[in-house]
Amino acid sequence: MEKKLTVDKAKIEGKRVLVRVDYNVPLEGTRVADDTRIRGSLPTVRHLLERGARPILVSHLGRPDGKVVESLRMDPVVKRAGELLGRPVRKAPGCIESEVQGMARAMKEGDVLFLENVRFYAGEEEGDPKFAGQLAALAEAYVNDAFGACHRPHASVVGVTRHLSSSAGLLLKKEIEYARCIFESGETPFAAVLGGAKVSDKIPILESLIETVDSFLIGGAMAYTFLRARGVDVGASRVEEACLETAARILEKCEAGNVRALLPVDHVVARSPKDTAGMQTVTDIPAGWMGCDIGPQTAALYEGELARSRMVILNGPMGVFENPKFAQGTKRIVRAMAESQGVTIVGGGDSVHAVETFGAAERMSHISTGGGAFLEMLAHRTLPGIEALAGA
Ligand code: 3PG
Repeated sequence: MEKKLTVDKAKIEGKRVLVRVDYNVPLEGTRVADDTRIRGSLPTVRHLLERGARPILVSHLGRPDGKVVESLRMDPVVKRAGELLGRPVRKAPGCIESEVQGMARAMKEGDVLFLENVRFYAGEEEGDPKFAGQLAALAEAYVNDAFGACHRPHASVVGVTRHLSSSAGLLLKKEIEYARCIFESGETPFAAVLGGAKVSDKIPILESLIETVDSFLIGGAMAYTFLRARGVDVGASRVEEACLETAARILEKCEAGNVRALLPVDHVVARSPKDTAGMQTVTDIPAGWMGCDIGPQTAALYEGELARSRMVILNGPMGVFENPKFAQGTKRIVRAMAESQGVTIVGGGDSVHAVETFGAAERMSHISTGGGAFLEMLAHRTLPGIEALAGA
């Protein structure tokens, strides 16, 4: 990935700076239920203020599909951002209207302006050049700090960079550094722990990482498609029939490329994740039973692999960890990562939730703020929103 200009090196003194943030946060009524994403980009906003720039923040919230949706107005987010920044943040009634342009031009040093939900405008998701030009007209420079939205080639992510000098915010800078670390550091042994329900979601990641990693540690429901592809009977476990051929091809490619593809050797099984009566730990899955977590032998095997790895990424849990009965596998993997002396990177909503649940978040090298963006980045090694920024 080409090196990108970052905000700390950009000429932004005294300028109005359009800052794309990803404040697509969960709401409970009119309250922000989780402000992690807002906190994540505050260093960038503070940095801009310290250097006399005038930040104009813009984000999407939910998927209003180009229309005004009252419940998706930015007000709760603006309120929380102001509280966290410890200064008043003005909210604009829209994004591009003449009144908003006037508010932007009237900004003084120390002011922070927050635009309305950018996805209220159809031009945002369409990447409409006219809309991008109108947004860009608010400011004299652009900073992207929205890693979570960088996989979207939208007007506020990509289009505006054609009009304004652009740089990566401090949060995006960190995400880019870890992305480079994954693909370019050459740190070995490198283990990728992949889990979760859908193997189809993970195929592009497996294909992309096969040239970089030394081992795949596969768990979660996706493991059963791979086991079946190896000819193992998996009982009633979830198998994506349409992916069997691809799974077999990936396993062959791993073998040819000397990549260890580790699959579960034992399982915690139940009739279903909800029907846990008679749940048991087995090496061979009986007919009518479903794998809901990796078993203790598998966890020990994976722990051994993680202990010798210098680079580990985690994307997806090992089982249905929301139910404590099926949480042991994920817990042991997360704890093994926490004890690792190497670089440990976690991405994806479920994985982040798991490391938080098991109290290991502080001990990871990096927890990505991207959900879909993290997956796309692993699959494509870069993202449209990053590519669009000026080189360093
Ligand atoms: C996310 O929550 O992953 C980002 O904000 C992107 O949202 P989107 O999937 O609606 O584009």
